[in-house]
Amino acid sequence: MEKEVIIRFDNVTKRYDSDTVVLDHVSFEIERGKFYTLLGPSGCGKTTILRLIAGFTEASEGDIYFNGKRINQVPANKRQVNTVFQDYALFPHLNVYENVAFGLRIKKVKQAEVDRRVKEALRFVNLSGYENREITEMSGGQRQRVAIARAIVNEPEVILLDEPLSALDLKLRTEMQYELRDLQKRLGITFIFVTHDQEEALAMSDEIFVLHEGRIEQSGTPTDIYDEPINRFVADFIGESNIVPGKMIKDFEVEFAGKVFECVDQGLNPNESVEVVIRPEDLEITSWDKGKIQVKVDSQLFRGVHYEMLCYDEAKNEWLVHSTKKAIVGEEIGLNFEPEAIHVMRLGETEEEFDKRLESYQEARHEQ
Ligand SMILES: Nc1ncnc2c1ncn2[C@@H]1O[C@H](COP(=O)(O)OP(=O)(O)OP(=O)(O)O)[C@@H](O)[C@H]1O
Ligand SMILES: [Mg+2]
Repeated sequence: MEKEVIIRFDNVTKRYDSDTVVLDHVSFEIERGKFYTLLGPSGCGKTTILRLIAGFTEASEGDIYFNGKRINQVPANKRQVNTVFQDYALFPHLNVYENVAFGLRIKKVKQAEVDRRVKEALRFVNLSGYENREITEMSGGQRQRVAIARAIVNEPEVILLDEPLSALDLKLRTEMQYELRDLQKRLGITFIFVTHDQEEALAMSDEIFVLHEGRIEQSGTPTDIYDEPINRFVADFIGESNIVPGKMIKDFEVEFAGKVFECVDQGLNPNESVEVVIRPEDLEITSWDKGKIQVKVDSQLFRGVHYEMLCYDEAKNEWLVHSTKKAIVGEEIGLNFEPEAIHVMRLGETEEEFDKRLESYQEARHEQ
């Protein structure tokens, strides 16, 4: 399928008052028909991006494009987007049918057409037959689906969802994650979903933008972001990781925890200081003498499917290990890992620099 850009942010900066920058020169492209997630901690600017797309607030600098046209001055009601809010913002005095029909009534759509579209929207979210129910008689998950039906009934090109699952309990939340993902595929509408939950983002998205203090720290598919976090913030934020200081000796050799190890990274300066990331599940427990690094087990928890151990090496680096094998607290053990499990990050590396570096590895592999 040809790539078709539906929304583009070009160097968008947002200040609410003259000196606090909430979004700082943000640029990105949204392609039609995909599921996007804005992921980041509270206050990083997620809702602000949605508000800019929806037209509820104006950019201080930069340009916003929709289908190739600059829309900075286009009012909210003229934009082809609908928002599903965190608290759903349903009308408690209207029944399910009238909640979903609300937007169409305002546009003075004819009754026969309203009827057809409301029924279709309710069918899409598996709520056929609930037309006459009061909102107050609906469960949290059902209200969620009414809110989504109310957005899709307008047949928008883009649906914005601001933490729509955060009010639900864990079980319902997981169910709704599947439902939403499935709904997006069936509708083919572009979804921009906001969450601060990394597992949710990894499970649902085609593309993730990781936001931090008003900037996009990294963007990519869930696997890109999970496998190759580009800086310490992203690594820390996307799942628990081990991050230890190291030194790139030369291509394919990195030093950390007092030893030199084979890795897959190249093109850094000889003896450059770096941060080394190894995921807990990429560490394998072995006996003291067989391990690449030696650690002492400080504590251990059973997590249902695996044990989680916190260990320390001689240099006092902390190592979190996920293993199906059990260790003994206080015991000295060895840890093994593959060269591919080592992710070397330059200090302060930008996304472009990191992408270039990864590309160069692939080219080098090709030439071999
Ligand atoms: N109307 C406003 N006036 C002034 N500052 C605002 C306004 N709206 C948001 N901000 C500030 O902008 C920053 C980003 O807010 P935003 O709502 O985009 O964050 P968020 O990533 O959605 O956070 P959360 O996960 O808590 O919803 C915050 O520091 C917030 O205080
Ligand atoms: Mg928000």
